[in-house]
Amino acid sequence: MLTLNVADLSLPDRQNYLQHAIVPRPICFASTVDRDGHVNLSPFSFFNLFSTNPPICVFSPSRRGRDNTTKHTLDNILEVPECVINLVSYDMVQQTSLASVEYPKGVNEFVKAGFTELPSQLIKPPRVAEAPVQFECIVNRVIPLGDKGGAGNLVIAEIKLMHISESILDTNGKIDQLKTDFVARMGGDWYCRANRENLFKVPKPNTQIGIGIDALPEAIRHSKILTGNDLGQLGNLTCFPDKAIVDVYVKEHKNPVGLTERELHIAAQSMIAGGKPDEALLLLLAADL
Ligand SMILES: Cc1cc2nc3c(=O)[nH]c(=O)nc-3n(C[C@H](O)[C@H](O)[C@H](O)COP(=O)(O)O)c2cc1C
Repeated sequence: MLTLNVADLSLPDRQNYLQHAIVPRPICFASTVDRDGHVNLSPFSFFNLFSTNPPICVFSPSRRGRDNTTKHTLDNILEVPECVINLVSYDMVQQTSLASVEYPKGVNEFVKAGFTELPSQLIKPPRVAEAPVQFECIVNRVIPLGDKGGAGNLVIAEIKLMHISESILDTNGKIDQLKTDFVARMGGDWYCRANRENLFKVPKPNTQIGIGIDALPEAIRHSKILTGNDLGQLGNLTCFPDKAIVDVYVKEHKNPVGLTERELHIAAQSMIAGGKPDEALLLLLAADL
């Protein structure tokens, strides 16, 4: 395992490791205005949701590593503490990248990158009409994380108004995750895309308490076939089946004891893959009798 002491790394190397490891990062496409009303639009992937009550997003325009200057987005927010956080779908990604070019102060990246300004209802910065989600935000605080090149500045933005395109809603008026097609930033030039091909579900453990992997018999825990993901689903079951149910299962299935451990674990694995971890546990326990 490569172990790196952060203090020994150059700033570009540090940035390289961190930005390739902490991925994918959602993209806040922030529009701001300066005190004279000049509009600015720039993407930031040091961004996430940190609170729902109050609804708070944080993003971070860093001090430039090159010359330690600050970004126009930060300068504008310090003058007018408002921003629109627009979310970026795959259709917008190339134009969004273009908007990240370091145009001189006063240049409107809506114009440069070919996006359409949509007036906001509560605040001065305009929304990006093409973005499927636009949040009108008031900036509560800006917290500088340092004064050297590369230092972030946490922009703590409270969402006041949400605009969501019907194109990504389901019939109940909720966001359909399969329709968003949002993009996220990875290391270097890499991006990823939240579309149907890439998404999968992990059912929430909810309020019930899973038995835990530690409660499973040793042969299951140390299986050469069952993976961590398989064990995670078994450990998430809320109880072991009753002995009576296991007995019935043994009878109905003509005794799975005839299987080798490998065959048994492969059979259990395919049950788990088929969404039936409870049945897989039953099979494994029945063979253990
Ligand atoms: C997808 C993407 C994500 C970015 N994320 C950040 C970020 O989180 N922080 C940052 O300081 N710069 C980030 N950048 C670079 C800024 O967008 C770039 O420096 C931009 O010119 C800043 O514009 P401004 O000076 O008009 O605010 C990102 C660029 C792209 C393309």
